[in-house]
Amino acid sequence: MSAASYPVLLTIHLLCALMFVGTVFFEVLVLDSVRRRVPAEAMRAVERGIGQRVRWLMPIVIVTLFSAGFGLAAHYGEQLTHPAGNPFAILLLLKIGLACSVFGHFLLASYWRMCELFTLRRSRLLHLSVFCHVVLIVLLAKGMFHIQFID
Ligand code: HEM
Repeated sequence: MSAASYPVLLTIHLLCALMFVGTVFFEVLVLDSVRRRVPAEAMRAVERGIGQRVRWLMPIVIVTLFSAGFGLAAHYGEQLTHPAGNPFAILLLLKIGLACSVFGHFLLASYWRMCELFTLRRSRLLHLSVFCHVVLIVLLAKGMFHIQFID
């Protein structure tokens, strides 16, 4: 990888992470509480509109986020194949594992939607789980550069 491509990939990764994490935060911290204050019929119309937009935008954001992430991770290939005793590599592997689990959630949601099994309860649980994942991912993404294991 050329020296110039790392900052480009990092910027793309960061911008996509911002859009993805922002959307998850909005759905969990804003939309869930609005649902309790707005008539059900109006809320259904709003959710239909938001859903259409999110279903169009998020696949692009997720594919770009993961592609840039794998491009960045390739830079640390040697450390990732021998992570023992290396806090950075261990935390990065954990972050990648959590990100793969988020991708699994995305596939599960698509499957439920396709089979018309995506109930409101499942949607809430899925969003809450993805919310917890992204909080941990962001903490690991920053922590991996600063956390040191004590001998
Ligand atoms: C839900 C998915 C993901 C989110 C929300 C996410 C978020 C982030 C964030 C916020 C950073 C910190 C950037 C910075 O401030 O420097 C970061 C860094 C990083 N991410 Fe991700 N990420 C995700 C998936 C992935 C995946 C799938 C990979 C690799 C396979 C990956 C590899 C990396 C690497 C190597 C860095 C360190 C880059 C650096 O700062 O030099 N990420 N990620």
